[in-house]
Amino acid sequence: MDALELRYTELTFPEPPADRPFTAINMVMSADGRTVVAGTERGLGSPLDQRLMRELRVHFDVVMNGAATFRASGTSARLNDPELERWRTERGMAPSPIAAVLTRSGDLPESRRFFTDDGFDAVVYLSSSAPERVRRELESRGRPVVVVPEGRETPAALDHMRRDLGARRVLIEGGAVLNGELVRRGLVDEFFLTLSPKVVGGDSAHPAVQWPGDQRVEEMRGMELVHARPASTGEVFLRYRLV
Ligand SMILES: NC(=O)c1ccc[n+]([C@@H]2O[C@H](COP(=O)([O-])OP(=O)(O)OC[C@H]3O[C@@H](n4cnc5c(N)ncnc54)[C@H](OP(=O)(O)O)[C@@H]3O)[C@@H](O)[C@H]2O)c1
Repeated sequence: MDALELRYTELTFPEPPADRPFTAINMVMSADGRTVVAGTERGLGSPLDQRLMRELRVHFDVVMNGAATFRASGTSARLNDPELERWRTERGMAPSPIAAVLTRSGDLPESRRFFTDDGFDAVVYLSSSAPERVRRELESRGRPVVVVPEGRETPAALDHMRRDLGARRVLIEGGAVLNGELVRRGLVDEFFLTLSPKVVGGDSAHPAVQWPGDQRVEEMRGMELVHARPASTGEVFLRYRLV
């Protein structure tokens, strides 16, 4: 079956766990396991991949990035499609999800759409390890800044999304460090992965998920395949559920 027949607007999701929002990662990766080419993900996914990425977003209340992805590519929750916005508003949702970014340094370029476009809501999660002046400077830009406790940033951010933003589903759009932080803590329910028919090469790794320390067989996370859809683009669209 060609993924062109696959509409991600038609996907269904399980109920969120009792204590946090339902979470899914979405990434595109080359056949040789790279998620970055020359500094960004641009060029890895086809227009079909980008369409399915936007269709996937319609199901989520928050779309989140790590700050390195924000710096490389920006963070926006825009759907850029009136039909997809209508899909949401017909179901009582805001036209776009809320965009969220997690940072320790506070180094978030001010010129990015996240700060300049008021067409979607957005929130900055800042580690309590950041100096006070960093918080004040970020707050002066007009987006809410939520300070999350050092060492517990990711669970605290999810908790804030659930309690204060009313989020039932959160989509994590990378990068690998943020993904790893969440997977390692058992905070990820599903993993959408587009396998791109490309070999990137080079000597930098840039996997889809990473965390510090040595690899350990007993720490590997198992997943169940929910779907695998090959497309005429040569891509394979994979959906896994973490077990
Ligand atoms: N192929 C794809 O689908 C895809 C998707 C997304 C991104 N990417 C690529 O991935 C690259 C970036 O990925 P990455 O893995 O290097 O970084 P990342 O996960 O995007 O961001 C890492 C940064 O997030 C912040 N962060 C992460 N965990 C945190 C915590 N617990 N508390 C506070 N802040 C935390 C820190 O920000 P500070 O440094 O500000 O402290 C950290 O340096 C970019 O090149 C991007 O283009 C590819």
